[in-house]
Amino acid sequence: MNYGNKEEIKKRVDELTQILNEANYNYYVLDNPTITDQEYDKYYRELLDIEKLYPEFSYDDSPTKRVGGEVVDKFNKVVHDKPMLSLANVFNEDEIRDFDAKIKKEGFNPEYVCEYKIDGLSVSLLYKEGKLVKGVTRGDGVTGEDITHNVKTIKVIPLKLKKPIDIEVRGEIFMNKKTLEKINIEREKEGLPLLQNVRNAAAGSIRQLDSKVTAKRELDNFIYYLPEPEKYNIKTHMDALNFMESLGFKVNPANKIVKDIDGIIKFIEGITEKRDKLPYEIDGVVIKVNDIFMQEELGYTAKYPKWATAYKFPALEVLTKLKDIIFTVGRTGRITPNAVLEPVIVMGSTIRRATLHNEDYVISKNLMIGDIVSIRKAGDVIPEVVEAKVMRRTGKEIPFKMINECPMCHEPIKKIEGQVDYYCVNPNCPKRNIESIIHFVSRDALNIEGLGDEIVEELYNLGFIKNIIDLFNLEDKKEQIMQFDGYGEKSLNKIIENIKKAKNISLERLLYGLGIKEIGTKTAKLLASTYKNMDALMNATIEDLESIKDIGSITADSIVKYFKVNKKLIEDLKNIGMNMDYLGKVKGTNENITNKRFVITGTISDMGRKEIKDILESFGGKVSETVSKNTDIVIVGNNPGSKYQDAMDLNITIWNEEKLHSILNDLQ
Ligand code: IVH
Repeated sequence: MNYGNKEEIKKRVDELTQILNEANYNYYVLDNPTITDQEYDKYYRELLDIEKLYPEFSYDDSPTKRVGGEVVDKFNKVVHDKPMLSLANVFNEDEIRDFDAKIKKEGFNPEYVCEYKIDGLSVSLLYKEGKLVKGVTRGDGVTGEDITHNVKTIKVIPLKLKKPIDIEVRGEIFMNKKTLEKINIEREKEGLPLLQNVRNAAAGSIRQLDSKVTAKRELDNFIYYLPEPEKYNIKTHMDALNFMESLGFKVNPANKIVKDIDGIIKFIEGITEKRDKLPYEIDGVVIKVNDIFMQEELGYTAKYPKWATAYKFPALEVLTKLKDIIFTVGRTGRITPNAVLEPVIVMGSTIRRATLHNEDYVISKNLMIGDIVSIRKAGDVIPEVVEAKVMRRTGKEIPFKMINECPMCHEPIKKIEGQVDYYCVNPNCPKRNIESIIHFVSRDALNIEGLGDEIVEELYNLGFIKNIIDLFNLEDKKEQIMQFDGYGEKSLNKIIENIKKAKNISLERLLYGLGIKEIGTKTAKLLASTYKNMDALMNATIEDLESIKDIGSITADSIVKYFKVNKKLIEDLKNIGMNMDYLGKVKGTNENITNKRFVITGTISDMGRKEIKDILESFGGKVSETVSKNTDIVIVGNNPGSKYQDAMDLNITIWNEEKLHSILNDLQ
């Protein structure tokens, strides 16, 4: 076909894009097709032909890109501008009333929006001038993974909005029940393992390097959250939903404003009959305060908004056999009995194990090995053994007996007075050591990517890491490790690099990673922000610690005891260059700043050096005086000193004033 000049070609491309986008929207979002399949194919092929002939008009947001094709070699990390929080759970009417009562106690009497809790995975979508530029998974809430190439294959997610605005929206990517069935029929034919449930299927489909695979999975999406409503002068959550719908997003028509708590209960009761008939799985109802001013006043905890909660449908119970009770050892030496179950599928996932917590718990449930037991599972909550079906006993069941030695090192185990748990107190118990190292590198501690539990266990058993200090000497052992199966140079280098980088983490992560009894992430943060550095904390007495709000005597005691015994370990960590300071009150994270090392040279107009330093540090950046090969960025102002030349010599990224201002302007 001949379109004449370039202008005409562009015009036709735009026209076809518009027609196809509109058709897609009507078909997938509104479920109301406006053109026939043949017509669609005709336009689609025409656009494809032009794009092949004139690749300069083949745009990233073309509807032809929906079939996938883009392949990435890894998922890049993206720091969310605003953390992606999760929701607190409630399980019954009383707990819903408690949620409402807490809000009333703050002096509000809100109306709520009730929404289905879709069983999928959350996604953040970023648009610039109305064009989809990024899709990111939730990840740990602070940092997610770039899945843009796959998001583009989801037909209900607009590539172009109805208004050319900059916006971030969040919602759930999910797989419809029928799609899962269809895929599993195919997989069965091909002898592939079946996808277990809609959630795993959706998560697995979106974490594909090759977007063609994702495209075939026919994922769906609902948008349910606008992180920055104030930017669009939006005052209620329902207005935000309507606004997002008007931009072209698929918003669940079941979302409903209710006036009060009774409205919530009615909404939940109303679902029971509808639930099975829905084309997608839901595992509960999300309840959100409608008024955005009230939302902000109510605020957030580290993990959840206080203005929303998730009511989870009652758990499902199934029967299975308790085949055995085995004991595991944790990093603190705590011994935990675990139920080994005849595998059963509950809500789409196979359950083989359930914790039995401690001796008293097993005794209180009167469990015997060989019993038929009921298992309960509520959504993503850990499965639980509810009770033994005593009537079904045959007489062959074996009574439970607590062990008296550590299952790993066989040293005697001890119970602390007044507590229910037994502990292995052997400091050289291999399992305890392995678990401590696993904890040290875990997500909320040093967060060493690539160093999973199994690798730690193997490297421990092979003798390469016997304690946390050995982690920092892995480089010297690289050649030896590579002789073992499964350890490639590339992946080892990555692990070593990640460990090196982790030396700069803030004190609270290190404290948490040390695995001090009673110190979870929250207490670690409290201690780090109070004492600012390790030495000050180590010098604190029990009385000092107890004087801090939220630190009780057990915690204070545990901290002091820990440092009494572990002085040398802390000294060794200092010697390998581990940061021992609290890195300031971190306001947030930013991919250009967090964990980066800066040097400033020259004068920056309008801003003092201290001011710049404070801002960078408050977003987790480190500012030092001298340029070295470890420096990531040198900020160069007017009349720079020799540091500018050093930066050039070492080929270090340079930010001029303009770049600095543009990055700082984007911070919240
Ligand atoms: S709102 C700050 N609304 O449930 C608001 N979440 O258990 C955060 N989810 O991570 C989320 N349906 O993946 C919201 N209608 C809905 C939802 C929903 C499903 C998921 C979401 C979230 C998880 C929390």
